Amino acid sequence: LGKTLIHKHSTGSTQIIGHQLAVEGTPHGTVVVADVQTEGKGRFDRKWHSSNNKGIWMSIVLRPNLLPNQAPQITLLAATVIADVIKSKTGLSPNIKWPNDVLINNKKVSGILTEMQAEQDRIQYMVLGIGININQSVETLANDIKASATSLRIESTIEWNIRDLIQETLAHFEQAYDSFIDEGFSPIKSKWESYAYMIGQSVRIKTFKKETTAQLIGIKEDGALIIKNEDGSHESLYSAEIQW
Ligand code: BTN
Repeated sequence: LGKTLIHKHSTGSTQIIGHQLAVEGTPHGTVVVADVQTEGKGRFDRKWHSSNNKGIWMSIVLRPNLLPNQAPQITLLAATVIADVIKSKTGLSPNIKWPNDVLINNKKVSGILTEMQAEQDRIQYMVLGIGININQSVETLANDIKASATSLRIESTIEWNIRDLIQETLAHFEQAYDSFIDEGFSPIKSKWESYAYMIGQSVRIKTFKKETTAQLIGIKEDGALIIKNEDGSHESLYSAEIQW
C-alpha cells in the first residue's frame, strides 16, 4: 500500500485522479494525496471543504477480490482505522456515526467517500476517499460547516504534522486491510462497535424512501445498520443518513 504515492499540490478532487489511475491499471494500494482540493467531494454530492495544508485529503485505489456487497465493510474498516489513529496519536476520544463519519465531541472531524466500479458481480476497483480536518482553527473552518464540524487542532489546541498522520493512517490501514482479508469482518465489527455513536438512542433517519424516528441497535456482519422502528420491528439499512 502506498508504494505508488502521487502527491499533488492542488487538484480538483483526489477521487477523480484515483478513478483515472484505476482505469489506466494502477496497482492496488495506489495513494493520491493533495495539499488542497478545489472541488472536494462529499457523500450525496455535497462539497467537501479541503483548504490548503489544513487536513488529509487522499484517495486510495483498492482492488479487493470481493463481491460488491462487501464494499461497505471496507468503508467501516477505514472509519475504525481513522478513529484508531486519532485516538492513539492525539488521545482524543473519537466516535463513529454510521456508516463512516468520525466525530469528536459530537462534531465531524473526518468523512469517507467510497466509490466503486463493479462488473459481473466482482469489484473491479474501489476508490476510497478519506478527508480528515486537522489544522483548521475555528476561524479558518468554512462558515457553512462551523456548527457541525471540527478539526484535531480545535479539539486538542495542538498543530499536527499532516505528513506524519498520513503515514500513520496508511500504515494502520494496510494492517487492518490485510487482517480483514485474512480473518474477515468480525474483529472490525467489534472495533467499530466500540466507537459507535448513539447506539441505543432514538434518532431521525433519512432513507431514499422515508424519514423516520428509530432506535439505533448496531451493525450486521455485512455492515448494514440495524434499527428498531417505533412499531418495534427491526430493519437493516444499507444506505441511509442519520440526522444530526
Ligand atoms: C463525506 O463525509 O461526505 C465524505 C468526505 C470525503 C472527502 C475526501 S477528501 C479526499 C477525497 N477526495 C474527495 O474529493 N473527497 C474525498
